[in-house]
Amino acid sequence: MTDGDATGAAIDVFGLEDRTFPPPALLAAAANVRDLSLYEEAERDPEAFWARQARELVTWQRDFDTVLEWDLPFAKWFVGGQLNISENCLDRHVAAGRGDRVAFHWEGEPGDTRTITYAELLADVQRFANVLKGLGVEKGDRVNIYMPMIPELPVAMLACARIGAPHSVVFGGFSAESLSDRINDAEAKVLVTADGGYRRGAPANLKGSADAACASSPSIEHVVVVRRTGEAVTMLEGRDHWWHDLMGAAGPTCPPEPLDSEHLLYLLYTSGTTAKPKGIMHTTGGYLTQVAFTHKNVFDLHDGDVYWCAADIGWVTGHSYIVYGPLANGATSVLYEGTPDTPGRDRWWDIIERYKVSILYCAPTAIRTFMKWGTAEPGKHDLSSLRVLGSVGEPINPEAWMWYREHIGGDQCPIVDTWWQTETGGIMISPLPGVTTTKPGSATFPLPGIGAEVVDDAGKAVDRGSGGYLTLTRPWPGMLRGIYGDPDRYRETYWSRFPGRYFAGDGAKLDDDGYLWLLGRVDDVMNVSGHRISTTEVESALVDHQEVAEAAVVGAKDETTGQAIVAFVTVKGGVATTRELGEELRHHVAHKIGPTARPKTVIFTDDLPKTRSGKIMRRLLRDVAEGRDLGDTTTLADPAVVEEIRRRAEAAPQDES
Ligand code: WT7
Repeated sequence: MTDGDATGAAIDVFGLEDRTFPPPALLAAAANVRDLSLYEEAERDPEAFWARQARELVTWQRDFDTVLEWDLPFAKWFVGGQLNISENCLDRHVAAGRGDRVAFHWEGEPGDTRTITYAELLADVQRFANVLKGLGVEKGDRVNIYMPMIPELPVAMLACARIGAPHSVVFGGFSAESLSDRINDAEAKVLVTADGGYRRGAPANLKGSADAACASSPSIEHVVVVRRTGEAVTMLEGRDHWWHDLMGAAGPTCPPEPLDSEHLLYLLYTSGTTAKPKGIMHTTGGYLTQVAFTHKNVFDLHDGDVYWCAADIGWVTGHSYIVYGPLANGATSVLYEGTPDTPGRDRWWDIIERYKVSILYCAPTAIRTFMKWGTAEPGKHDLSSLRVLGSVGEPINPEAWMWYREHIGGDQCPIVDTWWQTETGGIMISPLPGVTTTKPGSATFPLPGIGAEVVDDAGKAVDRGSGGYLTLTRPWPGMLRGIYGDPDRYRETYWSRFPGRYFAGDGAKLDDDGYLWLLGRVDDVMNVSGHRISTTEVESALVDHQEVAEAAVVGAKDETTGQAIVAFVTVKGGVATTRELGEELRHHVAHKIGPTARPKTVIFTDDLPKTRSGKIMRRLLRDVAEGRDLGDTTTLADPAVVEEIRRRAEAAPQDES
């Protein structure tokens, strides 16, 4: 263990992980990227590299004149170019004779299925584009979308893109109030929703929340409602319309509108834990180029692949890697409506077996849940179709990485741990499965064309073996173009901490081989006796213990040490949560990382407080650990969880050793 104060490093780095996994030979031989020349090309001239990708992967109605106009922090990519994203995702594949290819194998939670080809998707998108026009939506008007994971959701998004109406998708799990806030910020004219969707075996109502939101969102003139569950809903005369009625009456053709490369494609609100949500702006040409490039190369997409991104379309992962990237590349995807434990805890593995999924992309929180449920569940199914596994959303701890590799990937599949954000639009740091030797828990290197550097407090690049702040050193095509209606907040939030650089808010370390290890948000760094310790590293050490399924660690105020480490731990099924186990875990962490990282308290809990996108809400755990009233809990997936944790925290032993 290093001495934190003495090194002056922004974040001290302790953990060591020395297992390495080179690309499987067969995959490497046929991979889309087989050698490092792409990195070299991009390093020599990033703009020329991106221009080549834009011209090869995207069809332009008018070619662009200028690759990049950079007026820090405002970027314009492929200026002068015109294109339509829905044409890129649909028409061009159909025109090339691939209309019969499946775009989505959709599976509803109750087990109903639909197979949607590219030709059928194009037909639906044109009709719905005409529906929107019929409701008075014009180029530039915002459309809000609040839907379950049903095929009408991508149809609505692509129809917006076809006519140049930016969409703002709000995750179906959000409350009426969250929806209303987002509609009002975007001043949307039309809301597209459904009666409901299925979750955990039962219909979950959406129209009721949509109605409540509209009551305080005066900009909404029309609401389009998909009938999914058939539950009774109230339809307001003149404002509300059934999707199937409008579609039945709409014309079948709607030509794709030529749009400027910088035309606003969508707004997506990031769920900040405290302040007002930020409407992240993504535009057309650069965004499509980056998502198509990364989807093709990070997942090594080939003809015949069946790709499944298990995120919800309500998050950026779904926008970029269920809708725009895969469709631009003509991929065949699985789209699944529901939860992983309905009707059984093997639902995912059953889906993979039946559709012969070859590429799976999901979040570490899902993987840790599956670890908790045990290896027997995936063991019931033939998962040998899998070729590439992806991870996104938070740092993946080495134990979960290894479990994913062994029990889902059968020890055969490369894992691509992809780091990016709502703001970056597409994947930024990730292995390329045919060329990168991976290390469990490391997102490895910036992709070709991407500049990323770990810096210290003074903004100076750190040496190998040190930790600090992850920054992006140059503009990239899919980057956010700003925060809707608030350019000052955009500059202040992302571009002010380190001059000339985008600061992502994440801590990272650079190991001796130059690999990047993400350490979570920097506000998740603890300071114990002057040592800056990342919550991720302690959590990783805890989960490394064979009886632990999941852990969240926070720093709570402590008179002696500044902060003391409090660990919230969920054990695997059947394990007794004894005082001895707590003691053993404290020793385990001290052994793996060093005595400074030894948790002062271990609190056992059945569940951890998570946002609806699966991120652990450490802020609430800090409140619990410091005995404070709980702050805002509205973004929690299950508010009951924190109350339970609070009861346990009060009863937990405090160790002074
Ligand atoms: C934050 C962005 C990217 C789409 C889903 C989340 C964390 C994301 C990783 C990863 C470590 C990761 C970061 C980032 N994050 N991927 N592979 N390793 N951390 O999008 O909600 O905008 O969250 O998620 O902290 O800043 P988001």
